[in-house]
Amino acid sequence: MCGIVGYIGNKKATPVLIDGLLCLEYRGYDSAGIATIENDSIKVMKDKGRVNNLYNLEGINDLEGTVGIAHTRWATHGKPSKENSHPHMDNSNTFAVVHNGIIENYSELREFLSKNGYNFLSQTDTEVIPNLIHYYYTNGPVSILENINERFLGAVKSAVNDLKGSYAIEAISPICPNEIIVVRKDSPLVIGKGKSENFIASDIPAILTHTKDFYLLDDNEFAVVSKNKVRFFDNSLIEHNKAIKNIEWDANAAGKDGYEDYMLKEINEQPTAIRETIGSRFKLGEKCSFHDIDITKEYLSSVNRIFFVACGTAWHAGLVGKALMENLCKIPTEVDIASEFRYRNPIIDEHTLCIYISQSGETADTIAALKLAKSHGAKTLAISNVIGSSITREADYSIYTHAGPEIAVASTKAYTSQVALVAILAMYFAEILGTSSESEIEKLKSDLIDLPSKIEQILANTDEIKNFAKKIYTEKDMFFLGRGTDYNVALEGSLKLKEISYIHSEAYAAGELKHGPIALIENGVTVIGIITNPDLVEKSISNIQEVITRGAKTLIITNQIIPNGHFDYVLTIPETNPLISPILSVIPMQLLSYYISKFKGLDVDKPRNLAKSVTVE
Ligand code: F6R
Repeated sequence: MCGIVGYIGNKKATPVLIDGLLCLEYRGYDSAGIATIENDSIKVMKDKGRVNNLYNLEGINDLEGTVGIAHTRWATHGKPSKENSHPHMDNSNTFAVVHNGIIENYSELREFLSKNGYNFLSQTDTEVIPNLIHYYYTNGPVSILENINERFLGAVKSAVNDLKGSYAIEAISPICPNEIIVVRKDSPLVIGKGKSENFIASDIPAILTHTKDFYLLDDNEFAVVSKNKVRFFDNSLIEHNKAIKNIEWDANAAGKDGYEDYMLKEINEQPTAIRETIGSRFKLGEKCSFHDIDITKEYLSSVNRIFFVACGTAWHAGLVGKALMENLCKIPTEVDIASEFRYRNPIIDEHTLCIYISQSGETADTIAALKLAKSHGAKTLAISNVIGSSITREADYSIYTHAGPEIAVASTKAYTSQVALVAILAMYFAEILGTSSESEIEKLKSDLIDLPSKIEQILANTDEIKNFAKKIYTEKDMFFLGRGTDYNVALEGSLKLKEISYIHSEAYAAGELKHGPIALIENGVTVIGIITNPDLVEKSISNIQEVITRGAKTLIITNQIIPNGHFDYVLTIPETNPLISPILSVIPMQLLSYYISKFKGLDVDKPRNLAKSVTVE
């Protein structure tokens, strides 16, 4: 999704802005642009296509301005084109704006502005913003007009008051050449503090090489950023102070570290990500502890239902969470897709605990679903990979996976870390509630501790998966089958394949196949079966036998002893508790998708139409 960068300091802004945009490429975009203040005017350079294309624009190297804003656009209103790229200016070229999010009432605002003599050069929702700023700058309330120093800020505030929807906005003007005004609502924005320079970004990695000290802007909060100072204002423009947060991420961790692609690097980082996520949360022979949350036995005993709510891969982690919570804590658990949950009037009250999983912590639907649960009196717990992300600031409790920055659009290490963290949370609850035996929990702890080395074993032997990928990469359709948590992980395997190889695939609960989907099985179709639960081996094999009879080519991912000769390929992975086996069985499926995508010559890290962080509904 769209990305924002801003710079104000003593250096030429252009290289800092373009470098920042390059760091945000992973979010997905179709056009890029920058605006700097040059003497007494604004210079805008933008076009559709890659960030690096900006260097080919005539005159870009002549920009000397030390104040600038920049943007990567992921088209929502209007196709990718130069006109629709950000930054956008008002008709008098006095204000330039970049914007992430969606202005829902932009048609109304366009009509209002048109009636007041404004013209529009693009089809975007964003273009109303600089024109509204201009409108209020010239026609604003007397209080704004009189206070010349804060008139720009006042005009931005008046403009923002008219907006419905979500936004992170940067605005500059030669009228106030030494400041950038920023504001956000439901779309992330951070300010990085430097020495005699300050940085702005929608995502921390964009400016991590410059600073580790960040101000995390809140919803409806304004900041006036100058090179030596950042001033914060609430929605009534009352000034307040804000604490700095130190973000420990290593800038190198956001690089490729010698790997061909971020996805491959992140697949290989999974043993470390799990070790870090386990961290000091438990040791063998000791109870689990979460220093970051304060959940009492009294509260947990009052919980009669848990919801996991998330999107995409994070939702798949929630599905495994259901099995963990129900097995260990005996609390009925539901799993919802956030975009469904928020509109289906779910039954929630103060006895419901809603757990939201989000790698980025910025997914619009997940945040909205969290706000909904809070408004019904439920307690909310956020699981995120990004410290200080929006979701963690909204939730009653927040806990973090420690997977490090995930850059590839297709999620890998975030998923396995999320499942690991949910397992620890379930053990923690079960220990508080006394709902599982000590020996059962102790065994699961030891299985979790063993996971990183078992992942390493799988990663040390990827040739078989690569060879299989070579045999099937030209196929058009594939199926993934499993039962229980094997079905949960089948959904994730299928999603990975779709996203990065563009091969159509479906995942089914193996027992459901004969209720319809089996009609699609014909000679040569590839079916991937996952069998890791000893109690379900025979039943799973029978289901796969049914597709073999109809001509399917089969790959089985298993940690069980299964009969020889039935299947075309069998990939054996290390054994573990079925409740956490997705952490191991997903690895070959991640690698399979990766190699298929490579054999097809596709861009693994930036698949078409996708964005890393989905900050709009
Ligand atoms: C798939 C993928 C997406 C995300 C989903 C939620 O590989 O990455 O399905 O899982 O967009 O994102 P977060 O976890 O950031 O809320």
